[in-house]
Amino acid sequence: MSANLNQTNIEIDDPNFQDVFTNLQGNILKGHGRDHSRHVFFRFIGNSDENCRWVEKFASKITSTLGQEQQTRQYKAGGRHQVFVNLMLSCSGYQALGIKQKYWPQDLAFRSGMKDLQVRYDTVPRGDHQPKSNPLNDDVQQWESAFRSDIDGMILLAYAGDSPSETDQLLADKVTELKNELAGIAEITLVQVGHVMRNDKAQVIEHFGFVDGVSNPKFFFSDLNEEFKNGGYSRNDASASLNTVLVKDPGGDGNSYGTYVTYRKLQQNIKGFWKKLDLLANTLSELGQQKVDAEYAGALCVGRFKDGTPISEQGNDGWSNLFNNFNYDDDVDGLRCPFHAHTRKTNPRGDTVRQFNSPPTIEQSRRIVRRGISFGEKNLAPDSEWTEAGLLFISLQASIVDQFIFMQHTWCNNEGFIRKKTGIDPLVGQLANGETPQPQSWPGKWGNGASKVDFEFSGFVRNLGGEYLFMPSIHFLRHL
Ligand code: HEM
Repeated sequence: MSANLNQTNIEIDDPNFQDVFTNLQGNILKGHGRDHSRHVFFRFIGNSDENCRWVEKFASKITSTLGQEQQTRQYKAGGRHQVFVNLMLSCSGYQALGIKQKYWPQDLAFRSGMKDLQVRYDTVPRGDHQPKSNPLNDDVQQWESAFRSDIDGMILLAYAGDSPSETDQLLADKVTELKNELAGIAEITLVQVGHVMRNDKAQVIEHFGFVDGVSNPKFFFSDLNEEFKNGGYSRNDASASLNTVLVKDPGGDGNSYGTYVTYRKLQQNIKGFWKKLDLLANTLSELGQQKVDAEYAGALCVGRFKDGTPISEQGNDGWSNLFNNFNYDDDVDGLRCPFHAHTRKTNPRGDTVRQFNSPPTIEQSRRIVRRGISFGEKNLAPDSEWTEAGLLFISLQASIVDQFIFMQHTWCNNEGFIRKKTGIDPLVGQLANGETPQPQSWPGKWGNGASKVDFEFSGFVRNLGGEYLFMPSIHFLRHL
């Protein structure tokens, strides 16, 4: 009997899901929680039989959902972290394994790969448009060479030891071990290093300095309960059904599920971002009625202050809990949090329900699970622009087309989203090569009426490459 993926608020030890969770890779329904990772991208070079035998053997090292839970319990009881392992495949990976097409995951974006800019996606569900090619407005010529060439799969290794040197050494040993066992089977095309950055309160931050990973769909009741402790969920229900992120694995048995992965290496221009925020703050101060600083301008870009306080809730930072129980019902004109703010674009929390009179379930079905990690230098105030710093963006979803691509294309990149002149997401919005972004419309100091100022803000995050992958069930990987 198949599991019911419409269910919300289950617990990990629910007897109906034990077979599913034994087969399901970890890091999907809960983050793996280690601060250091290596993303090992590879391309098969062996024949399909040899490739399959290696995958079948490697499958025993993958951390399952239940395995991850056991490791977490041991760690909380005073034990040490163990190395966490995921394996994901691109569509060319399925081909290199000689898997019959009827067993391939079906998502159109997965089947085409991220580099294929010609494939036309039907990203808007209202039937009043033509399907669009290159909805992300990517420019593959600008990608790092490892991402421009073929990627058949990626192994994610994650660990946090007692010291940075122990962590580095252990992960280096694991990568060497992988290289040795892959000899004649696959070439390692890139080992991407990722590390969590934290602020002085030990909260996870990204390179612009903002607390990150606050808002994510919650699959287990105990995780939702954490939201409850941080302010409740009366105004934003973070619970999500399993089919937000899981699909049946076409190659597995009755208890086999997997998830689609979007991987994007997003470089951040920290110096440029803060310089432009100074300019935005000065412009808002001159044209508005009250002085604002770069920190405030930053909150208008992100939708939250650096410490995570939502700007739709109050006009200054200071909330010590990672608050997620909010929506934009008290800010329907975007006077506190502008419509273009990153968090408002990527989770409109009711804006599209008001605008299009569509059921809230449709907006909620766009949610993605974010499992990214930072890369590069830890310096948050570098002397030069475009340093080696950014986010290894990883989103998990049941449909790449209807969730990640929809979010990036129809919300982040869409200048007319919610209001005609909203503009693009100042953090991650991208227009097609050669197109000039229109200025966004910025409210002045919090609660100060309707005077808005036009100012163009974009271009401080660029994509260095990526791929669409599928994280199959362990059962499938063991029985090729
Ligand atoms: C939230 C930063 C890329 C989707 C956030 C938050 C920050 C942030 C600071 C607020 C904290 C939180 O709610 O967790 C960044 C940076 C990026 C980036 C610096 C690139 C370097 C992306 C991309 C997408 C995305 C490419 C998808 C297209 C989201 C979503 C949320 C979020 C869904 C949660 C919104 C909510 O539920 O309120 N991001 N992000 N982010 N971001 Fe990003």
